[in-house]
Amino acid sequence: MNLDELLRELREKIHLYDHHYYVLAEPLIGDLEYDQLLKELEKLESENPQLITPDSPTQRVGKDLTKEFKPVAHQFPMLSLANTYNEQEVVDFDRRVKEILGANETVDYVVEYKIDGASVSLNYVDGKLSTAATRGDGTTGEEITQNVKTIKSVPLKLKNYPHPKYSLNNIEVRGEIFMDIEDFRLLNKEREERGEKLFANPRNSSAGTLKLQDPQIVAKRPLKIFTYYLLSKENQLQQQSENLALLSKLGFRINKDFQICKSIEEVLQTCSKFEEVRDSLPFEIDGAVIKVNSIRQQTILGSIAKSPRWAVAFKFKAKQATTLLKAITWQVGRTGAVTPVAELEPVFLAGSTISRATLHNLDEIRRKDIRVNDYVVLEKGGDVIPKIVSVLLSERKIDSQPTEPPQNCPVCSSALFQHEDEVALYCENLECPAQVKGKLEHFASRTAMDIEGLGEALIDLFVEEKFLGNIGDIYNLKNHREELIQIERLGKKSIDNLLSSIEKCKRQPFAKVLFALGIRYVGAGVAKKLADHFQSLENLQRASKEELTNVFEIGESIAESILMFFRDENNLFIIEKLREAGLNFSSEKKRVAENVFTNKSFVLTGTLENFSREAAGEKILGFGGKVVSSVSKKTDFVLAGEAAGSKLEKAKTLGVQILSENNFLEMLKSASET
Ligand code: IVH
Repeated sequence: MNLDELLRELREKIHLYDHHYYVLAEPLIGDLEYDQLLKELEKLESENPQLITPDSPTQRVGKDLTKEFKPVAHQFPMLSLANTYNEQEVVDFDRRVKEILGANETVDYVVEYKIDGASVSLNYVDGKLSTAATRGDGTTGEEITQNVKTIKSVPLKLKNYPHPKYSLNNIEVRGEIFMDIEDFRLLNKEREERGEKLFANPRNSSAGTLKLQDPQIVAKRPLKIFTYYLLSKENQLQQQSENLALLSKLGFRINKDFQICKSIEEVLQTCSKFEEVRDSLPFEIDGAVIKVNSIRQQTILGSIAKSPRWAVAFKFKAKQATTLLKAITWQVGRTGAVTPVAELEPVFLAGSTISRATLHNLDEIRRKDIRVNDYVVLEKGGDVIPKIVSVLLSERKIDSQPTEPPQNCPVCSSALFQHEDEVALYCENLECPAQVKGKLEHFASRTAMDIEGLGEALIDLFVEEKFLGNIGDIYNLKNHREELIQIERLGKKSIDNLLSSIEKCKRQPFAKVLFALGIRYVGAGVAKKLADHFQSLENLQRASKEELTNVFEIGESIAESILMFFRDENNLFIIEKLREAGLNFSSEKKRVAENVFTNKSFVLTGTLENFSREAAGEKILGFGGKVVSSVSKKTDFVLAGEAAGSKLEKAKTLGVQILSENNFLEMLKSASET
């Protein structure tokens, strides 16, 4: 047997064992034997790197860090489901379906678990996993292929491909990535021991993991998949149940507890049955998904806006738990608003242990008459944050007292204020450490400036050590590198990483910068609208109240808040510091002159000598070109490095222009000269 054949055989074996272990949960061999096989493959591949194929089991963990998640257009939109909350709404759904289909049609439904995870779209080209993407806005998602490849229940290549009955050369498989509850608990326990931030629930933990930059870490997280849909332009499937069977045949993990129901009564029974077994399942479900089984009928029904008319989610009732309210503490937010927090006897509810819950404001406390030492009923609905729904009055202690608000800030002791027409209490000391820290945390957070590594713990430390007093100081940290390195437990590497993410964040677009400033009522959406409209901070700063309220969806209170923000000397001073640091204060795009890359689409394949594929991709994007993942007639160029495989072959058959690395270097040279 030659080396090629030996490698192929080893890979096939490992794929088979993986499938039995991770998808079917029926291991064929012991761990030791498996590890030996994998080691043998790794050894042979490291001696002959030119023979490594992307679908080799060793390629589940790539070497490269993901610098950014590239956008991927879904071939089919990723729809979301309309929700129903009770039997009547399900019956109404059935009625609407039958009204559209007409009296002559009988309708079968498939009822599946609604897995509470993160949805993913997997694109397989010629039987091999090509890209994996998040849902994104339903039309375009983010590419998370390297991370998804680490999930062992996601096949890198299809089993039983090509299929005798279906043409499956380019398919999208939809499914849900999740964590088992027990795995999630263990993960959180480890994080707690290491002093890391805990995940709120298995869903957040899965979604967060998929967006990590380092696939090596993702590989260590216990992610799993259930797939529920296969789509192809040449779809020859007749039924959803057939779809599930085909997925299973192709090597995907599906949940076998789905039910085919002949009537809406049967659907309702299945929904109740699912709700009953909910707590005994190893993973979280938040409802049932009801789908019209016939794909012909699905096509007739079509979709409205972003939801199909042929499917609906049946959401389970929120889970409740009762526990003791030990104390009410008051927390100061970044705007100075002081909000009450319930400190609870820890209780397990819907996937996580809860020891705190927000009480919103004093009005809410009074309305529900919540008192310290009461037993309270907690509820966790679709959202992550638990709320107190009521108090068990029968359990109330005789000597309990209504809750009184504090007179002074619990952090800096300055007197609190209540503005006219507002329920919230405010600490108006701008130097209050709670506000300072809150503003810094908001500024550095992922949805704002996205400064990796600058989290709550480090901010606390830097504020206490006086390295940070406001957001402008962040860009001054680099002048204190030596002192920062001296701080116990930080060290050179983490400080240098932090300083480089601070440099990197300067590329965040204007809308994010505006959001990061933390102007009251200017959330991410409002910031985007303002940035689009005014284009620069200068224009926004100059805008009158009338000009502000003229912008679609900008009301009086937002306008007032913006005007107040720019009236404050301290804010103007900080803005100046940020401007000096080089943040984007306008959204005008840098125009790149037309060049050989302008609007041309590229497919990258094989190994390049001078660049990683990501770096080559960035160059192309920088000069106004596009990078796509699969070759079609519309592709302008295929850049082929060493050991290029099927994409190069496809380019040849389609007559797409093929570039060597040298050709590419020449193109770069010519573009930079224009
Ligand atoms: S079908 C149009 N089936 O629930 C088809 N979705 O908004 C929509 N989900 O985004 C998906 N389990 O992430 C389907 N068995 C299941 C599901 C499921 C969980 C998620 C999915 C979707 C969301 C509904």
